[in-house]
Amino acid sequence: MQETFSLMVHGGAGALDNVKDTKTALRYLESIRTVLEHGREILSMGGSALEAVESCASQLEDDPVFNAGCGSVLNESGKVEMDAAIMDGRDLSAGAIAAVSNIANPVQLARLVMAESEHVMLISEGAMKFADHCGIKLTPDHYFFTPDRIQQLEQARLQHRIMLDHDDSDEASEEQKYGTIGAVARDLEGNLAAATSTGGIVNKRIGRVGDSPIIGAGVFADNQTCAVSTTGFGEDFMRTVLAKTVSDAMEFLQCDARGAVAYGIEYLKRKVNGRGGMIVIDHHGNCAADFTTKKMIHGWIEKSGQSEAGF
Ligand code: GLY
Repeated sequence: MQETFSLMVHGGAGALDNVKDTKTALRYLESIRTVLEHGREILSMGGSALEAVESCASQLEDDPVFNAGCGSVLNESGKVEMDAAIMDGRDLSAGAIAAVSNIANPVQLARLVMAESEHVMLISEGAMKFADHCGIKLTPDHYFFTPDRIQQLEQARLQHRIMLDHDDSDEASEEQKYGTIGAVARDLEGNLAAATSTGGIVNKRIGRVGDSPIIGAGVFADNQTCAVSTTGFGEDFMRTVLAKTVSDAMEFLQCDARGAVAYGIEYLKRKVNGRGGMIVIDHHGNCAADFTTKKMIHGWIEKSGQSEAGF
């Protein structure tokens, strides 16, 4: 039987009321489809799942409509602090960074932590020092500070609250609907990988770290089970260790991607009434996604088929 590849990406979960506006919806879908076709090029040529998720996540970080890289939301002091992680399902190697600033592609720094350091996670000043050691040039502040993000922070401050990247609450205005990002892949050799990257939550406390860089919460990949990337209110995913919970469901209940996602979503709701969603590819290349929020921007190529994108 001919081997196939699979790829999924997401651009965040939330209310996303602005997708009712056709222009905005098309903008999101076009971005997701472009990234999927970019990933197809890598995977169909025999590139690794790890390479594909790093490259697709980097492209999403470069798109200001998503809450990662250049589109990252601002914290309580009006600064960008980003988190990211990447994991290789072949041997469970992983790399993560948290609370970094002025790094254009945090997922690439996470990959360097995995490949070039003896650690799994570096944070803040230490991560920045490591970036310098690896020769990564700092990107100036103005690259990250979009007018939308400044307005979004002002609104959150006025309302004395933090906000999910795509806020699901009734008070959430159109300007608040932006997304964190993630990618999962299975390559032609059957290897799995996952990556997640985010600016976190609007008006978050300085030093707050979410689920995205936490292995087993916001990201997980194991060739024996599946690759998972989550999005949503990070604290809910940390408390339920959700990405690993989904992988465990597959391992111990012998379900496929769809069954594991159903298990994970039910667990997230039952335990913490959690807000968010996930994308999953199992070790056979089946794709599945679900969310507890109103919508989640995501797309997929299942078993080398056509690319699909939706909310
Ligand atoms: N899920 C992204 C965050 O909470 O930071």
